[in-house]
Amino acid sequence: MIMSDQPPTDPIRIQFVCLGNICRSPLAEAVFRDQVEQAELEDYFEIDSSGTGRWHVGENADRRMRQTARKHGLSLEDHTASQFSREDLARYDHIFVMDKNNLNDVLHLDENDTYNGKVRLFREFDPEPGNFQVPDPYHGGQEGFENVYSIVERTAQSILDRLVEEYDLSASS
Ligand code: 4NP
Repeated sequence: MIMSDQPPTDPIRIQFVCLGNICRSPLAEAVFRDQVEQAELEDYFEIDSSGTGRWHVGENADRRMRQTARKHGLSLEDHTASQFSREDLARYDHIFVMDKNNLNDVLHLDENDTYNGKVRLFREFDPEPGNFQVPDPYHGGQEGFENVYSIVERTAQSILDRLVEEYDLSASS
């Protein structure tokens, strides 16, 4: 077989999932995308996020999360909230959920247990995993958003490192 340096035509499809898709998962999407771009690996990935709930569909990211992201040099201004669907279970290769409620809600859509191998708690990959859940900052103060940022930054990097190894990825020259 002739090995090619070209990135594959079929991207690795990554989906981050929380409840509302206005706080945690939009941040995870933006942070992971930034890390992928820093590593010059963007040709390998399709990256998106969604929420298990439908209440915020069509809305921008939460103002406090946008502020926190901006403080760290990232923009969430183009984000529009969407709802996770059964079709997403088939479409995405890796589905990272923010907490155990998200995990139950996503797995509930997987009626025949076909896809449960690709659904993981995001913080399984956190070097400091705590209780394995990203706390929901929505009803709390600004410090909760900063805490989410710290968790997301180190965990997204750890996920990228694992994927680079798993798929043997290298930056396109
Ligand atoms: P997210 O945060 O799941 O991180 O987007 C939340 C957003 C909205 C609500 C809860 C959490 N809510 O109850 O409306």
